[in-house]
Amino acid sequence: MKKFYIEGGHELAGTVKVSGAKNAALPIISAALLGSGPSRLEDIPNLRDVRNLAKIISKMGARVNYENNTMEIDPRRLEHFATDPELAGQIRASYYMLGVMLARVGQARTSLPGGCSIGNRPIDLHLKGFKSLGAEVDISQGFVELKAEKLKGSRIYLDYPSVGATINIMLAATGAEGQTIIENAAREPEIVDLANYLTVMGAKIKGVGTDVIRIEGEEELQGEEHRIIPDRIEAGTYIIAGALMGEDVYVKNVLVEHIKPLLAKLEEMGVALEEDIAGVRVAAPEKLKSVDIKTLPYPGFPTDLQAQMMVLLTQADNASVVTETVWEDRFRHVEELKSLGARINMDDNSALVKPARLSGADVIATDLRAGAALILAGLKAEGVTSVDNIGHVERGYEDIEEKLTGLGAEIERAEETIESQVTTA
Ligand code: UD1
Repeated sequence: MKKFYIEGGHELAGTVKVSGAKNAALPIISAALLGSGPSRLEDIPNLRDVRNLAKIISKMGARVNYENNTMEIDPRRLEHFATDPELAGQIRASYYMLGVMLARVGQARTSLPGGCSIGNRPIDLHLKGFKSLGAEVDISQGFVELKAEKLKGSRIYLDYPSVGATINIMLAATGAEGQTIIENAAREPEIVDLANYLTVMGAKIKGVGTDVIRIEGEEELQGEEHRIIPDRIEAGTYIIAGALMGEDVYVKNVLVEHIKPLLAKLEEMGVALEEDIAGVRVAAPEKLKSVDIKTLPYPGFPTDLQAQMMVLLTQADNASVVTETVWEDRFRHVEELKSLGARINMDDNSALVKPARLSGADVIATDLRAGAALILAGLKAEGVTSVDNIGHVERGYEDIEEKLTGLGAEIERAEETIESQVTTA
């Protein structure tokens, strides 16, 4: 297991560049399989989930060339409609192959999705959408299999604006005859990015960014070029790092409109922010005011920044309430933060975060964003913090160690050998 040792208390200064968005790259790589020719995708972050998805589509017969954050995908020799079970089990986004292959060949099979353990992650809304388009759904022994003679456009109301279900239904609907209408659709920027790519490929999509999306299916889609949007969660994480420890941090390659809910909260806390066309400049204020946070689907406060924001709130002048409404079990960082000295009381889906002094301890990253939060806490804590299981963090943050040390953080990586893991188990 990989570990970071972080020496806290070092001020951060300089520029950090945000990578392309993981959560846009994954559906867009999947969508490239819908093209009649090769696509060239730029700003694809070099992350384990991305590399795994590239392996999955290669095994299905696509040609993939991935260098310097550019991925070329040629789907012309795609021959399998099923994903490799072992690879697919490791990455939740492999379920986008369901929507894609259903649109492309009317048949799809994948293992039930893996991914971060942040609560019950059902896919009932995806399946409801596929059924409504005319697919037969069969679930057995951990696999999902879809079959459709002919997909027909339909009206689908999502009981919850699920990001993944909206994307998967959009992908499938490109292969359906007539119009598909998704109501109560998710509005996340990553969905807009996917729709922009599908549109240059030749798809007819209206209403993305609103809660009603219309797709006119069965257009011939070409391979195309596309640049992935900057990662708003990575941007937010570095901006929070700047608010916590920044002397003068410039976070560049940010689409400021995508992180308005975060910036608004930081301003309420008294953090001085300067926005320009390419990024955000941030420094830690003398005093941070407490604020309450409630996570919501976009454009509400993102659940993927809840844990990182909680670290900042431990440094506020008063108690703050953090309410999680998107994921039911997304407070696993709380126990770890308490080991660092945080004073947090839980009540159902709310946490009362009281001011506290953080000091170094040994903690474990339980999921991707929780791990990012523990690294931020380590930057602030007195003494040395070790964050174990850093592989989780590297699933979503390209070069996090290099980016933070570039700003002046003191981080050392340790890779435990199998033997030492056994002896310490
Ligand atoms: C995506 C993001 C994830 C983020 C989440 C919410 C990716 C790869 N991941 O995850 O980082 O935290 O959006 O912004 O893009 N739900 C159902 N049934 C379903 C699908 C979802 O009940 O069929 C529920 C989930 O249990 C959860 C909520 O809907 O409570 C949100 O899930 P969803 O928006 O689908 O998240 P993901 O697409 O999995």
